[in-house]
Amino acid sequence: MAEMPPPGPTQVTLTQYLIENQKSHAGATGEFTDLLNRIALCGKIISSRLRRSTLTGETGYARTSNVYGERQEKLDVFANEVFLHHLQYGSIVTLAASEEMDEPAALTRSLEQGHYTICFDPIDGSANLDVNGTLGTIFGIRRRAGVDASELLTSGREQVAAGYVLYGPATQLVFTAGNGVAIFTLDGETGEFYLAQDRVEMPKSGKNYAVNEGNTGYWRPGTKKFVESLKTPDAKTGKAHATRYSASLVGDFHRILHQGGIYLYPEDSSDPKKPNGKLRVLYECHPLALVAEQAGGRASTGTKNVLDVVPESFHDRCPLAIGSKEEVGRYEEFVKTF
Ligand code: F6P
Ligand code: MN
Repeated sequence: MAEMPPPGPTQVTLTQYLIENQKSHAGATGEFTDLLNRIALCGKIISSRLRRSTLTGETGYARTSNVYGERQEKLDVFANEVFLHHLQYGSIVTLAASEEMDEPAALTRSLEQGHYTICFDPIDGSANLDVNGTLGTIFGIRRRAGVDASELLTSGREQVAAGYVLYGPATQLVFTAGNGVAIFTLDGETGEFYLAQDRVEMPKSGKNYAVNEGNTGYWRPGTKKFVESLKTPDAKTGKAHATRYSASLVGDFHRILHQGGIYLYPEDSSDPKKPNGKLRVLYECHPLALVAEQAGGRASTGTKNVLDVVPESFHDRCPLAIGSKEEVGRYEEFVKTF
């Protein structure tokens, strides 16, 4: 098979894109560009480690549960440390909060230093580590308010940028800085992210739905009836929605970003300690909600816009219905009606 040609001399790199965009913000200092470049660097480092991990045995094709648990933990902790290490110098990021840490980490000596904070999920979909499946890293950036760590407990609308890195057959960086959504693909040969698509538009409706239907017995009536409706052939087209669930929120969301449809992790009664489903507000729901909205889609808890959810603690969860406007709107109707 012929090898893919290298990226052409006129292809836009991430750095070029960021610098061009920086020019349109009067008074921009370059710190935001620096921050996104560092996130991209973290994505490259994590991607390269993941790529080799099935060879080095880190992801556990060996099936002893203890070892598997430890190994999985190692990659989660590794990815977390990569972020902390590469965001801590230069006093750009004040606070970093992640799924892997009980409390946010202070990255500057005082909260008066640094202009940004970051909330992130270092490895999303970690159940897929064991099977060389799709994984991701999710991030949301807010401006520093300089109060204390509780300043992170705000609505998703406070995010000035958000996005994710997708570790699939290709590694892609997808983000919004409040001006549409752009997708970049990592070229392993040059180590550079190249612009793949700018101003991404999520279809208004789509044929895919992603949900763990094994939980059906724990769902509320509105969720059950909604998912049933997705499986009922449409009167006009004669077609039902297709199930596409990969156990990776980033992977499933990415498909929906391109093709439309809905990803659902609703509230369920399986665990009284987690009545709001599984996904974390700050590390997963807020960032993807901003990306969805910037691409013309929506994210809802079923009763309110996810971007309006204000968490009470760093690890709060909320139900998530995210994707095309039509399907998410229909989900809200079902929740209201049943
Ligand atoms: O991070 C949470 C997560 O791994 C998502 O990436 C994924 O969509 C979901 O959990 C899978 O959960 P479950 O195994 O309950 O379907
Ligand atoms: Mn996750």
